[in-house]
Amino acid sequence: MDVIEAVAALRERLAAARRAGGDVGFVPTMGALHAGHAALIERARRECDCTVVSIFVNPLQFDRPDDLEHYPRTLPADLHMCATLGVDVVFAPAAAEMYPAPLSCTIEVGRVASHLCGRYRPGHFNGVATVVMKLFQIVQPDRAYFGEKDAQQLAVIRRVVRDFNVPVRIEPVPTVRERDGLALSSRNQRLDPEERKLAPALYRALCEARRLIAEGADDPERVRQAAIATIPRDQCLRVEYLELVEPDGMQPVERIEGAVLAACALWVGTTRLIDNLMCDSPRARVD
Ligand code: PAJ
Repeated sequence: MDVIEAVAALRERLAAARRAGGDVGFVPTMGALHAGHAALIERARRECDCTVVSIFVNPLQFDRPDDLEHYPRTLPADLHMCATLGVDVVFAPAAAEMYPAPLSCTIEVGRVASHLCGRYRPGHFNGVATVVMKLFQIVQPDRAYFGEKDAQQLAVIRRVVRDFNVPVRIEPVPTVRERDGLALSSRNQRLDPEERKLAPALYRALCEARRLIAEGADDPERVRQAAIATIPRDQCLRVEYLELVEPDGMQPVERIEGAVLAACALWVGTTRLIDNLMCDSPRARVD
């Protein structure tokens, strides 16, 4: 496995891979790798001839300085996991390699970022879209793998690719969870044992929304309230949002029909967790 820090060296390495006639698969990450990331990497390994993983904690997408400061950094363990999974190339640039000078152009994401995380994390998706666009230009992958765990991020990336005609196939990968339903996340490491016990309330609330919708509930506000009501009243827990949105545009629905996405952000102590579930209504969508 090659570990490369410089853009020029990465381009050379990938040119060789392309000359050998292979498809390049790309998994962008911020490190602190866990089994959720591993699922993306395994898919890339199965479907592509050369698998590239990037590890870069992107300052542009952090809206709170303390979140950036406390973001887990575990490069040696990450490299070990990548090697075990058979990754061909890890791209682990320093911030100065990605941003040698302040950017004069950035991507500004439109309506798809107006709700859910986009509403509560100003500038976050602009930072994600900008770094992913840069990474796509650097790696020029045939396929890129993103987790459904970050459904709004996936929707944003699909828009970027469509709007700027990026020649890459975006491949979604289902969310990997703990046995109690908690979605794997690098931020779970920050939970203390008490908080860890409370955290699955997020998944359970989304399951309640999914159950009600499957039974035919069609009023989003009632489903929202019923789902929120399953979350224990505890001073550690605070719901930031729980919304029912249409899966492509990420806009709240007025009536539940067809497929809707239930998405939630829950603060557990000082840790912010997000999750989502696709819900199928027996009511046909009327367009
Ligand atoms: P990061 O949080 O490291 O996540 C990297 C990829 O792993 C994302 O596509 C994310 O959706 C996926 N992922 C995380 N937890 C998962 C889980 N439990 N199951 C399945 N997939 C999971 O997302 C980012 O980094 C950054 O925003 C990035 C795209 C790299 C841009 O900086």
